[in-house]
Amino acid sequence: MTDFSSVKGKVVIITGAADGLGEAIAQCYAENGMKVVVSDINEEKGNQVVHQIKAKGGEATFVKADVREEVDVKEMIDFVVKTYGRLDGIVNNAGIPAPNRPVHEYSVVEFDKITSVDLKGVFLGMKYGVEAILKSKVSGGFIINIASLAGILGNSSMGLYTSAKHGVVGLTKSASLDYAPYNITVNAICPGTFRTSIWGDAPEEVMQQYAKIISPNERLGDPKEIGHLALFLASDLARYISGAAIPIDAGSSAGKITPTKWEHPEILD
Ligand SMILES: NC(=O)c1ccc[n+]([C@@H]2O[C@H](COP(=O)([O-])OP(=O)(O)OC[C@H]3O[C@@H](n4cnc5c(N)ncnc54)[C@H](O)[C@@H]3O)[C@@H](O)[C@H]2O)c1
Repeated sequence: MTDFSSVKGKVVIITGAADGLGEAIAQCYAENGMKVVVSDINEEKGNQVVHQIKAKGGEATFVKADVREEVDVKEMIDFVVKTYGRLDGIVNNAGIPAPNRPVHEYSVVEFDKITSVDLKGVFLGMKYGVEAILKSKVSGGFIINIASLAGILGNSSMGLYTSAKHGVVGLTKSASLDYAPYNITVNAICPGTFRTSIWGDAPEEVMQQYAKIISPNERLGDPKEIGHLALFLASDLARYISGAAIPIDAGSSAGKITPTKWEHPEILD
């Protein structure tokens, strides 16, 4: 049987963990015995996640930090190292969506807003996170950056988000080479479409319709599925995986769907 017990006792920070994919990763990590630092700008929801984890017998702490602010990220890392005496890994997950429009219609203010969270936030988490992992001298340190399919594919009307997420994948690949000699793995997870609050108030039926259009298996991803991949990447089972940008998207980035006679005899015969 595959054994994930190598993660037990590892200290990990997850940014943007008060909700959505970050919360799912935090819950999955805690269920598997990791010491979880739930970090977010949303103090109320972050504390709720910590409360839920503790109620199930897990170990978690909330740290308020805005990933755009260097001082916040540095203080968060310092606090964690002081509290736990080490840092094994960081999941740079906090991210925001951008409005959909062609590139020339974006403002410079919007560019700065999106990149400050989606790219600079990841850079800061890596910069101070790696420093702490190196100083902790842990065996099997890891960095996981939550990118997107927009980190590996172009997207119409999504130029800003796409460029920031491509930047995240670029940072991931380069850093994997920098830290391989120190046995720190650096990977990016590239989710397809998962039902979280990033989609705002879009009604369930609209999301289901959307899933039918964009996903080959016609369903949205379950945030728990991101948790499972993040658990594998944090474990000793994945020590030979680094510099990867891993899609988790039911195959939607694997190629385009071509209508064939097999599927559509009514129109192609
Ligand atoms: N849900 C999807 O379909 C999907 C698809 C591809 C990529 N992603 C990426 O996954 C990550 C998580 O997205 P989600 O869907 O869970 O979103 P979400 O909106 O449900 O959760 C994001 C969390 O990040 C926090 N956050 C926002 N700005 C922050 C900041 N400056 N500092 C610290 N925390 C901040 C929010 O408070 C929230 O708790 C993002 O990077 C997103 O781009 C999501």
